[in-house]
Amino acid sequence: MTTQSPTLRLIHLSDLHLVEEGKLLRDVMDTPARMRQALDKLVTLDPAAIIVSGDIGQRNHYVHDDAAAYFGHFQDHLDIPFITVSGNHDPIDSVGTAFNPARIASGPELCDTVHDIHGLRIIGLDSHGVGRNFGHLTEAQHSWLAEVLQEPAVHGTLLTVHHPPIPSTTVSQRGSGLQDPETLHDIIKDSDVRAILSGHYHHQVAGTLGHIPVWVSGAASYNFDLFAAPTMLRGMDDGWATIVDVYPHTVTFSSLLLTSRQQVFTKDVS
Ligand SMILES: [Fe+2]
Ligand SMILES: [Fe+2]
Repeated sequence: MTTQSPTLRLIHLSDLHLVEEGKLLRDVMDTPARMRQALDKLVTLDPAAIIVSGDIGQRNHYVHDDAAAYFGHFQDHLDIPFITVSGNHDPIDSVGTAFNPARIASGPELCDTVHDIHGLRIIGLDSHGVGRNFGHLTEAQHSWLAEVLQEPAVHGTLLTVHHPPIPSTTVSQRGSGLQDPETLHDIIKDSDVRAILSGHYHHQVAGTLGHIPVWVSGAASYNFDLFAAPTMLRGMDDGWATIVDVYPHTVTFSSLLLTSRQQVFTKDVS
């Protein structure tokens, strides 16, 4: 029972906060280099697709054309589709048609997409939020999502949306997730949606929307120290991704450290 292999392995990346080549995020972090090194390691895990859940660029840095081209390289040469939604740092419509070239359908916003990954449906939703401290879905998006979900997929559906429909662990980020999660729940509660993948909080947190699991990946760029005082956000230089393994009867989420740590031992288990 526990020796079964996943039906599909996916990688979930979030919050790259890219700056232009030669610049540094907050004068200390080379986020383009972090992304390149991460992707070189992540492809060795042989993912069927890579989900990027928003904040591709840091606010006021114009990196989206380069990011689309870079993601396209993996899709064209390694046959790994990238499923990308925008975050509150990404200018309106910056995650446009150059992204998501493997989409099989599109919704009301440019990065509302449907992908079919070997029978698993992945739906990306633009949760807006540029210039605001929370995300939201429009009525048109709600209607579109309900329509798409009327027909179940072979292996079910995952949703990806930048703003999580669950609270943050950090006190100061509370209320900055997805507004009106109840309406989203009403739409998906009787559908084949198996999990929701989000980012935005820059710390890992898992929860549920009704009975549906919600996973918030750690950011690939910086992450908040949960020991910091409630009135303070302290960004740390560890970067994370998530392995999402999709089995017939469950979906698992494993945090994957992208930055350095020390080995304690090795053991041959072959
Ligand atoms: Fe972010
Ligand atoms: Fe964000």
